[in-house]
Amino acid sequence: MLLANASGLERAGLFARLREDVAAGVLVEFDTLIARRARREPVAYIIGEKEFYSLAFRVTHDCLIPRPETELLVDEALKRAPPGARVLDVGTGSGCIAIAIAVRRPDLRLTACDVSSAALAVAIENARRHDVDERIDFVESDLFGGLAPESRWDVVVANPPYVADEEGLAPELAWEPPGALRAGPDGLSVIRRLVPEAAARLAPGGTLMFEIGSAQAQAAVSVAECEGLKQVAVQSDLSGLPRLVVAVCAES
Ligand SMILES: C[S@@+](CC[C@H](N)C(=O)[O-])C[C@H]1O[C@@H](n2cnc3c(N)ncnc32)[C@H](O)[C@@H]1O
Repeated sequence: MLLANASGLERAGLFARLREDVAAGVLVEFDTLIARRARREPVAYIIGEKEFYSLAFRVTHDCLIPRPETELLVDEALKRAPPGARVLDVGTGSGCIAIAIAVRRPDLRLTACDVSSAALAVAIENARRHDVDERIDFVESDLFGGLAPESRWDVVVANPPYVADEEGLAPELAWEPPGALRAGPDGLSVIRRLVPEAAARLAPGGTLMFEIGSAQAQAAVSVAECEGLKQVAVQSDLSGLPRLVVAVCAES
Protein backbone atom coordinates (compact mmCIF):
# COMPACT_ATOMS: atom_id res chain seq x y z
CA MET A 1 0.00 0.00 0.00
CA LEU A 2 2.82 2.40 0.81
CA LEU A 3 4.65 1.66 -2.45
CA ALA A 4 1.41 2.05 -4.42
CA ASN A 5 0.85 5.37 -2.68
CA ALA A 6 4.41 6.58 -3.36
CA SER A 7 4.02 5.54 -7.02
CA GLY A 8 0.65 7.27 -7.39
CA LEU A 9 -0.90 3.93 -8.41
CA GLU A 10 -3.79 1.80 -7.23
CA ARG A 11 -2.67 -1.56 -5.81
CA ALA A 12 -3.80 -3.37 -8.98
CA GLY A 13 -1.68 -0.98 -11.08
CA LEU A 14 1.32 -1.65 -8.85
CA PHE A 15 0.96 -5.42 -9.23
CA ALA A 16 0.78 -5.00 -13.00
CA ARG A 17 4.21 -3.31 -12.88
CA LEU A 18 5.99 -5.59 -10.39
CA ARG A 19 8.77 -6.44 -12.86
CA GLU A 20 9.56 -2.81 -13.68
CA ASP A 21 12.26 -0.77 -11.95
CA VAL A 22 11.05 1.77 -9.44
CA ALA A 23 11.95 5.37 -10.32
CA ALA A 24 14.51 7.01 -8.00
CA GLY A 25 12.06 9.74 -6.91
CA VAL A 26 9.46 7.12 -5.99
CA LEU A 27 12.06 5.26 -3.90
CA VAL A 28 12.87 8.40 -1.93
CA GLU A 29 9.17 8.95 -1.21
CA PHE A 30 8.73 5.24 -0.37
CA ASP A 31 11.61 5.46 2.16
CA THR A 32 9.90 8.42 3.82
CA LEU A 33 6.64 6.48 4.12
CA ILE A 34 8.45 3.42 5.49
CA ALA A 35 10.19 5.59 8.10
CA ARG A 36 6.78 6.91 9.23
CA ARG A 37 5.40 3.37 9.49
CA ALA A 38 8.53 2.30 11.43
CA ARG A 39 7.53 4.95 14.01
CA ARG A 40 4.24 2.98 14.25
CA GLU A 41 2.12 5.60 12.48
CA PRO A 42 -0.94 3.75 11.10
CA VAL A 43 -1.00 3.15 7.34
CA ALA A 44 -4.38 4.92 7.09
CA TYR A 45 -2.87 8.21 8.36
CA ILE A 46 0.18 7.83 6.11
CA ILE A 47 -1.88 7.36 2.96
CA GLY A 48 -4.73 9.57 4.24
CA GLU A 49 -7.46 7.07 3.53
CA LYS A 50 -9.40 4.15 5.02
CA GLU A 51 -12.17 1.96 3.66
CA PHE A 52 -15.32 1.60 5.73
CA TYR A 53 -18.55 -0.06 4.64
CA SER A 54 -17.05 -0.42 1.13
CA LEU A 55 -16.57 3.36 0.86
CA ALA A 56 -13.26 5.26 0.89
CA PHE A 57 -12.89 7.87 3.63
CA ARG A 58 -10.27 10.57 3.96
CA VAL A 59 -8.66 10.44 7.41
CA THR A 60 -6.33 12.88 9.15
CA HIS A 61 -4.83 12.97 12.63
CA ASP A 62 -7.91 14.98 13.67
CA CYS A 63 -10.20 11.98 13.44
CA LEU A 64 -10.29 8.35 14.50
CA ILE A 65 -9.50 5.80 11.82
CA PRO A 66 -12.80 3.97 11.11
CA ARG A 67 -12.77 0.42 12.49
CA PRO A 68 -14.33 -2.63 10.82
CA GLU A 69 -16.26 -3.58 13.99
CA THR A 70 -18.15 -0.27 13.76
CA GLU A 71 -19.82 -1.55 10.58
CA LEU A 72 -22.12 -3.47 12.96
CA LEU A 73 -23.56 -0.13 14.10
CA VAL A 74 -24.31 0.84 10.49
CA ASP A 75 -25.93 -2.56 9.79
CA GLU A 76 -28.16 -2.18 12.82
CA ALA A 77 -29.13 1.43 12.04
CA LEU A 78 -30.03 0.48 8.45
CA LYS A 79 -32.18 -2.39 9.76
CA ARG A 80 -33.96 -0.39 12.43
CA ALA A 81 -34.51 3.04 10.88
CA PRO A 82 -38.11 3.31 9.62
CA PRO A 83 -38.67 5.04 6.25
CA GLY A 84 -38.07 8.79 6.47
CA ALA A 85 -36.58 8.51 9.99
CA ARG A 86 -34.53 11.28 11.60
CA VAL A 87 -31.09 9.86 12.46
CA LEU A 88 -28.41 11.46 14.63
CA ASP A 89 -24.74 10.34 14.70
CA VAL A 90 -23.07 11.62 17.89
CA GLY A 91 -19.25 11.92 17.70
CA THR A 92 -19.13 11.56 13.94
CA GLY A 93 -15.33 11.84 13.55
CA SER A 94 -14.53 11.17 9.88
CA GLY A 95 -18.30 10.97 9.28
CA CYS A 96 -18.02 7.30 8.37
CA ILE A 97 -21.19 6.12 10.15
CA ALA A 98 -23.52 8.93 9.06
CA ILE A 99 -22.18 8.90 5.50
CA ALA A 100 -22.44 5.10 5.10
CA ILE A 101 -26.06 5.32 6.33
CA ALA A 102 -26.86 8.26 4.04
CA VAL A 103 -25.39 6.52 0.98
CA ARG A 104 -27.49 3.38 1.58
CA ARG A 105 -30.70 5.13 2.65
CA PRO A 106 -31.62 8.25 0.66
CA ASP A 107 -34.96 8.41 2.53
CA LEU A 108 -33.38 9.27 5.90
CA ARG A 109 -32.75 12.73 7.34
CA LEU A 110 -29.38 12.85 9.08
CA THR A 111 -27.59 15.05 11.60
CA ALA A 112 -23.97 14.40 12.59
CA CYS A 113 -22.25 16.19 15.47
CA ASP A 114 -18.82 16.25 17.03
CA VAL A 115 -17.16 18.33 19.72
CA SER A 116 -14.09 18.64 17.47
CA SER A 117 -14.39 21.23 14.71
CA ALA A 118 -11.30 19.75 13.01
CA ALA A 119 -12.94 16.30 12.85
CA LEU A 120 -16.15 17.87 11.51
CA ALA A 121 -14.18 19.48 8.67
CA VAL A 122 -12.96 16.01 7.64
CA ALA A 123 -16.50 14.62 7.89
CA ILE A 124 -17.86 17.39 5.65
CA GLU A 125 -15.12 16.71 3.09
CA ASN A 126 -16.04 13.00 3.13
CA ALA A 127 -19.75 13.79 2.75
CA ARG A 128 -18.96 15.88 -0.35
CA ARG A 129 -16.83 13.09 -1.74
CA HIS A 130 -19.79 10.70 -1.47
CA ASP A 131 -22.30 13.32 -2.60
CA VAL A 132 -24.38 13.26 0.58
CA ASP A 133 -23.30 16.63 2.04
CA GLU A 134 -26.68 18.19 1.27
CA ARG A 135 -28.46 15.41 3.17
CA ILE A 136 -26.51 15.59 6.44
CA ASP A 137 -26.54 18.53 8.87
CA PHE A 138 -23.11 18.79 10.49
CA VAL A 139 -23.13 20.51 13.88
CA GLU A 140 -20.30 21.29 16.29
CA SER A 141 -21.68 20.12 19.62
CA ASP A 142 -20.70 18.64 22.98
CA LEU A 143 -23.04 15.62 22.85
CA PHE A 144 -26.59 17.10 22.54
CA GLY A 145 -25.60 20.50 24.02
CA GLY A 146 -25.32 22.37 20.71
CA LEU A 147 -28.30 20.76 18.97
CA ALA A 148 -31.64 22.54 18.64
CA PRO A 149 -33.47 21.85 21.94
CA GLU A 150 -36.75 21.00 20.23
CA SER A 151 -35.22 18.38 17.90
CA ARG A 152 -36.14 14.73 18.42
CA TRP A 153 -34.62 11.67 16.71
CA ASP A 154 -35.98 8.28 15.73
CA VAL A 155 -32.51 6.73 15.77
CA VAL A 156 -29.42 7.91 17.65
CA VAL A 157 -26.14 6.16 16.84
CA ALA A 158 -22.79 6.76 18.51
CA ASN A 159 -19.33 5.32 18.62
CA PRO A 160 -18.19 7.32 21.66
CA PRO A 161 -14.72 7.33 23.21
CA TYR A 162 -14.67 4.37 25.63
CA VAL A 163 -11.04 3.60 26.53
CA ALA A 164 -10.08 3.99 30.21
CA ASP A 165 -7.52 6.75 30.87
CA GLU A 166 -4.83 4.45 32.21
CA GLU A 167 -5.38 1.53 29.82
CA GLY A 168 -2.25 0.66 27.86
CA LEU A 169 -2.72 0.79 24.11
CA ALA A 170 -0.89 -0.39 20.99
CA PRO A 171 1.66 2.25 19.86
CA GLU A 172 -0.44 2.91 16.74
CA LEU A 173 -3.24 4.32 18.89
CA ALA A 174 -0.98 7.06 20.23
CA TRP A 175 -1.33 8.67 16.78
CA GLU A 176 -5.11 9.03 17.15
CA PRO A 177 -6.78 12.01 18.89
CA PRO A 178 -6.99 11.28 22.66
CA GLY A 179 -10.44 12.90 22.73
CA ALA A 180 -11.68 10.22 20.33
CA LEU A 181 -10.47 7.37 22.55
CA ARG A 182 -10.20 8.22 26.24
CA ALA A 183 -13.20 8.50 28.54
CA GLY A 184 -12.25 8.76 32.20
CA PRO A 185 -10.94 6.24 34.74
CA ASP A 186 -13.25 3.39 33.60
CA GLY A 187 -13.83 4.50 29.99
CA LEU A 188 -17.52 5.14 30.66
CA SER A 189 -17.58 8.90 31.32
CA VAL A 190 -18.93 9.83 27.86
CA ILE A 191 -21.42 6.92 27.81
CA ARG A 192 -22.78 8.03 31.22
CA ARG A 193 -23.54 11.47 29.75
CA LEU A 194 -24.61 10.26 26.30
CA VAL A 195 -27.33 7.83 27.44
CA PRO A 196 -29.45 10.23 29.57
CA GLU A 197 -29.11 13.01 26.98
CA ALA A 198 -30.17 10.63 24.21
CA ALA A 199 -33.03 9.18 26.29
CA ALA A 200 -34.41 12.71 26.70
CA ARG A 201 -34.21 13.46 22.98
CA LEU A 202 -35.41 10.23 21.36
CA ALA A 203 -38.85 10.26 19.76
CA PRO A 204 -41.29 7.81 21.42
CA GLY A 205 -40.36 4.33 20.18
CA GLY A 206 -37.00 5.63 18.95
CA THR A 207 -33.79 3.60 19.21
CA LEU A 208 -30.40 4.41 20.73
CA MET A 209 -27.44 2.29 19.69
CA PHE A 210 -23.87 2.81 20.77
CA GLU A 211 -20.58 0.99 20.57
CA ILE A 212 -18.83 -0.20 23.76
CA GLY A 213 -15.57 -1.79 24.83
CA SER A 214 -15.86 -5.56 25.16
CA ALA A 215 -15.69 -5.43 28.99
CA GLN A 216 -18.30 -2.68 29.35
CA ALA A 217 -21.52 -4.51 28.43
CA GLN A 218 -22.91 -4.95 31.94
CA ALA A 219 -22.16 -1.38 33.04
CA ALA A 220 -23.53 0.13 29.81
CA VAL A 221 -26.73 -1.94 30.01
CA SER A 222 -27.38 -0.77 33.56
CA VAL A 223 -26.84 2.88 32.55
CA ALA A 224 -29.45 2.42 29.79
CA GLU A 225 -31.92 0.64 32.09
CA CYS A 226 -31.51 3.29 34.79
CA GLU A 227 -32.56 5.91 32.23
CA GLY A 228 -35.81 4.02 31.64
CA LEU A 229 -34.86 2.72 28.19
CA LYS A 230 -36.55 -0.57 27.17
CA GLN A 231 -35.54 -3.72 25.30
CA VAL A 232 -31.90 -3.12 26.23
CA ALA A 233 -29.77 -5.67 24.40
CA VAL A 234 -26.11 -6.28 23.63
CA GLN A 235 -24.86 -7.50 20.26
CA SER A 236 -21.49 -9.07 19.61
CA ASP A 237 -19.14 -8.29 16.74
CA LEU A 238 -17.71 -10.83 14.28
CA SER A 239 -15.02 -11.75 16.84
CA GLY A 240 -17.79 -12.73 19.27
CA LEU A 241 -17.04 -9.79 21.60
CA PRO A 242 -19.82 -7.61 23.07
CA ARG A 243 -19.73 -4.47 20.90
CA LEU A 244 -23.09 -2.77 20.60
CA VAL A 245 -25.81 -1.73 23.05
CA VAL A 246 -29.27 -1.22 21.56
CA ALA A 247 -32.10 0.33 23.60
CA VAL A 248 -35.56 1.63 22.80
CA CYS A 249 -37.41 4.66 24.18
CA ALA A 250 -40.84 3.78 25.57
CA GLU A 251 -43.88 4.84 23.50
CA SER A 252 -45.35 7.67 25.61
C1 LIG B 1 -14.40 6.77 18.88
S1 LIG B 1 -14.44 8.26 17.90
C2 LIG B 1 -15.64 7.77 16.66
C3 LIG B 1 -15.52 8.50 15.36
C4 LIG B 1 -16.41 7.91 14.25
N1 LIG B 1 -17.81 7.99 14.61
C5 LIG B 1 -16.03 6.47 13.97
O1 LIG B 1 -16.81 5.58 14.34
O2 LIG B 1 -14.95 6.24 13.40
C6 LIG B 1 -15.33 9.32 18.98
C7 LIG B 1 -15.68 10.69 18.42
O3 LIG B 1 -16.48 11.37 19.38
C8 LIG B 1 -16.04 12.70 19.48
N2 LIG B 1 -16.40 13.17 20.83
C9 LIG B 1 -15.72 12.94 21.99
N3 LIG B 1 -16.38 13.52 23.00
C10 LIG B 1 -17.47 14.13 22.48
C11 LIG B 1 -18.52 14.91 23.02
N4 LIG B 1 -18.59 15.18 24.33
N5 LIG B 1 -19.48 15.39 22.18
C12 LIG B 1 -19.41 15.11 20.85
N6 LIG B 1 -18.43 14.39 20.28
C13 LIG B 1 -17.48 13.90 21.08
C14 LIG B 1 -14.57 12.68 19.20
O4 LIG B 1 -14.11 13.94 18.76
C15 LIG B 1 -14.50 11.58 18.12
O5 LIG B 1 -14.62 12.13 16.84
